[in-house]
Amino acid sequence: MEAGIPWYTDAVIYGIDVEKFADGNGDGIGDFVGLAEKVPYIAELGVTCIWLLPFFASPDRDNGYDVSDYYHIGTRVGTAADFLAFLHKAGEHGIRVIIDLVANHTSDEHPWFEAARRDEKSHFRDYYVWSPDPPPVEPGTHSIFPGEETSVWTYDEVARAYYFHKFYHFQPDLNIANPAVRAEIERVIDYWLSLGISGFRIDAAPLVIGQNGLERANPTDPHGILRDLSAYVAQRRPGGLLLGEVNLPPEEMGRYFGEGDQLGLLFNFMMACYIFGAMARQDATPIYQGLGLLPEPPTHCGWANFLRNLDELDFSQVPEDLKEDVFKAFAPDEAMQAFGRGVRRRLAPMLGGDQRRIELALSLVISMRGAPLLVYGDEIGMGEDLSQEGRSAVRTPMQWDGEANAGFSSAAAGKLVQTPIAKGAFSYKKVNVARQKGDPASLLNRTKRLIMARRSHQIFSRGRALRLECSDKAVFAHGFEDGAELMILLHNLSDRKTSAVVDLGPSAAVLSDLFNGDEIAADTALKVEIEPFGYRWLGGQRRM
Ligand code: BGC
Repeated sequence: MEAGIPWYTDAVIYGIDVEKFADGNGDGIGDFVGLAEKVPYIAELGVTCIWLLPFFASPDRDNGYDVSDYYHIGTRVGTAADFLAFLHKAGEHGIRVIIDLVANHTSDEHPWFEAARRDEKSHFRDYYVWSPDPPPVEPGTHSIFPGEETSVWTYDEVARAYYFHKFYHFQPDLNIANPAVRAEIERVIDYWLSLGISGFRIDAAPLVIGQNGLERANPTDPHGILRDLSAYVAQRRPGGLLLGEVNLPPEEMGRYFGEGDQLGLLFNFMMACYIFGAMARQDATPIYQGLGLLPEPPTHCGWANFLRNLDELDFSQVPEDLKEDVFKAFAPDEAMQAFGRGVRRRLAPMLGGDQRRIELALSLVISMRGAPLLVYGDEIGMGEDLSQEGRSAVRTPMQWDGEANAGFSSAAAGKLVQTPIAKGAFSYKKVNVARQKGDPASLLNRTKRLIMARRSHQIFSRGRALRLECSDKAVFAHGFEDGAELMILLHNLSDRKTSAVVDLGPSAAVLSDLFNGDEIAADTALKVEIEPFGYRWLGGQRRM
């Protein structure tokens, strides 16, 4: 990579819930010993950065996002030594590790909250947000989990006061306006950086800085908190990443990059919705529209492009008709939807298990400008379990092989943290790593091929992004240019074969297909055939 370009703008990120990935000690719960054993698999896939969802001590009522001790690893997933052994192994394979920083709230079992609720005079009281009376409900101040939480204020019998919580009632919001809280967060950052991680995913970033209906953080300069955090990380670990969970309308997103002095990467929530919209309509227009709406990241910042994460696929920030079309095509039953705004399904079943469409979707995110991000299991086309509550539907155990418990654990089936998918087209007996490993045409190997093709062509990170025009509106055409070098990426979103004509601009080019070796001499217009739901990556040179 070119000197000066931060590693993360071109990282290949892989999200893992440790409890669900691989069980090393046979107790039915995934752990760091199991994860360390799987590092070679992750490296072979081409991943350069692992994002670990929360693994800290926690009552685990919100998948670990209810932290009761930021410095301790949950006993369910292992010890500090296990964590370090994993980190070491990842390092040996050239893989960096980032972790979740949950700074908006703690668990109500966190000792800070215990102390705060017990004693009004305690130094910890002001770590949280209290009100003596039932506070008025401000317009627009609603829980993030409508239907599951009716209010953002809950009365605490011990404290004899109401406390504020934007998420579940067992997740009291921290009072970030309190400098002591900010110092605590810096200590947490310090601790994990000192162990050797490469950065953090900032959970619920807009809420952390006070965009939660409460003018409590720093009303005159809310983004000052992010600038401070970024400066702190840069000083402790130059090049450390802050990856922001920011899901806001496009015009508000850019502020979270600041002048390149806040968050280095932002999850591209919007593009995920527009990609699914384009796939639902079999029309590339929504992707072009989405690209037109996205703010341009400042130098050294970028997008983390993804299709699915381990929450619902949230359509709250995009036009209603886009959401309706996606729901109709890919999540028609109410059971597949969540909170009225999202889809609680995995990538593969949304696309009917059609490998052509799954590859197409992966090719879109892997080829775009930015850092591609996958979540465990999407590389083999895992399904969801709609019999599970809420977002647990998409958090089933990783399917390693067709043996008992999907090869995830040697424990008795009744002891598993969650039952692997054992029925239907996405059963672990059919969809698993072992089965796909030896087949060059499997989704696993095709995903690897896409990642490796991207990694072996620096033009994806160094080149100038090109938005190209195509004669067929079902085709999304984009590319990169670096001097005479060209990379043209074509995606046919429709179920019919097409002969696409793409305008290459001022000069002719000679291109070759990265995957089948076909040579294509193009005039200023490039003519290519693309199979139904097909994609083509064409690299080469302009004739200057
Ligand atoms: C995480 C969710 C979690 C919430 C509360 C989110 O944004 O992705 O899984 O429930 O933060 O911490």
